[in-house]
Amino acid sequence: MNGYRLPKRLMLGAGTSSAQIEGGAVDHTWREWEKKKRLHVNDSFTRAADHWERWKEDIDIMAAMGIETYRFSIEWARIEPKAGVFDEEAIAHYRREIEYMIECGIRPCLTLHHFTDPVWFARRGGFAEPSNAKTFLRYVGVAVRSFGDLVSDYVTINEPNVYAYMGYAGQGFPPGDNNLLKVQRVLSVMAGCHIRAYEKIHRMRERMGFRDTRVGIALHMRAFATMNPLSAVQSRSVVISKWCFQDVVAKAFLRGTFMPPLQNMGGFKAGVYCDFLGVNYYTRNHVIKPGDDLTRPQDPKDDYGWEIYPQGLSEVMKELYAICPRPVWVTESGICDDNDSFRSLFLYDQLAVLAKSEISVERYYYWSLLDNFEWLDGETKRFGLVHVDFETQKRTVKRSGLFYQEIIRNHAVTEDMADRYVKGLNYHL
Ligand code: BGC
Repeated sequence: MNGYRLPKRLMLGAGTSSAQIEGGAVDHTWREWEKKKRLHVNDSFTRAADHWERWKEDIDIMAAMGIETYRFSIEWARIEPKAGVFDEEAIAHYRREIEYMIECGIRPCLTLHHFTDPVWFARRGGFAEPSNAKTFLRYVGVAVRSFGDLVSDYVTINEPNVYAYMGYAGQGFPPGDNNLLKVQRVLSVMAGCHIRAYEKIHRMRERMGFRDTRVGIALHMRAFATMNPLSAVQSRSVVISKWCFQDVVAKAFLRGTFMPPLQNMGGFKAGVYCDFLGVNYYTRNHVIKPGDDLTRPQDPKDDYGWEIYPQGLSEVMKELYAICPRPVWVTESGICDDNDSFRSLFLYDQLAVLAKSEISVERYYYWSLLDNFEWLDGETKRFGLVHVDFETQKRTVKRSGLFYQEIIRNHAVTEDMADRYVKGLNYHL
């Protein structure tokens, strides 16, 4: 099999999010969702991967794998358990964790919001209530005051488009609403939150004497295609799907350009509100009518049933770059593969796309470092490079994790590595 070299500037990392790995009885919206029996499984966020207790072990595993940068999130409901009350112990815990990763040579990339809200915030209307933006920004201020001397790379909000559509368009995420007007409102409010957070983080760190601040969002990007390549009606559906799900979101968040159906509620000026293009990419949707999420029988799929389409990453990077010419950070890219039977092939195919990219790509965060709590599907869907036995919490680096380790060490896939790790693997249909 062929080998390839990776771009010089590309740093290789892995990602997680707090609620998905930490465990503990934290009052965030997803744990409330679990209590209301709204998950597809009986698993509990209180267990997850017990990272709150095992953070040191997990960082040691990353260090042994040579992970260069780690994208993780802090849990707002831990930092601010009651409105306006900040938990110094939780802050100190996260500081220890960040200090230790830096000591181990791992560069932190901190996500401030990854799907979960404190329950008290949701009760006040969450991001559907424009006046709550200032509450989010107060939390951002506390986070930067607490960690700003250690962290220069920030993702303000993870996948606002998934958060809004899944939570407010009848897709089963909290708060379980089904109202397209609310989707627009939430996205408009969140865009304002991001823009203000972008400015605030830069301002605060500049005052601390730092000039290397990098702030962006992690946008969930899909590749789209028509079911029937000859259908003009389906082509139109592709344009509408893309527009509503990602283009309009990217324009508002990254450029401050609010186009229908989003609204500029804060009088934001058009500009550039990101230092990198954070791309979370997983799959391609086939479309007959707007909003469809279909797969074709002949295409390879992962254990979630999502099409495996690595070249889609290059398509979505170009789309985003056309909206805002900044370097790309692949803030998430991963695969649900319960038995680790094709993850190495996926890594090989996905990184090959980056090796050929004409757009500058500075980061790649494989999702996820660990098997973790996959939202509605709990412990049943495995994305990790490291296997977690949730009963015993034993961690074991998977074969794909060893492959990634060698890729990082060589900053390349050699022919010999490809033969050892990838040859003979196949995706299933
Ligand atoms: C989310 C992750 C999630 C992953 C796989 C992304 O949309 O940011 O939290 O685990 O997809 O579903």
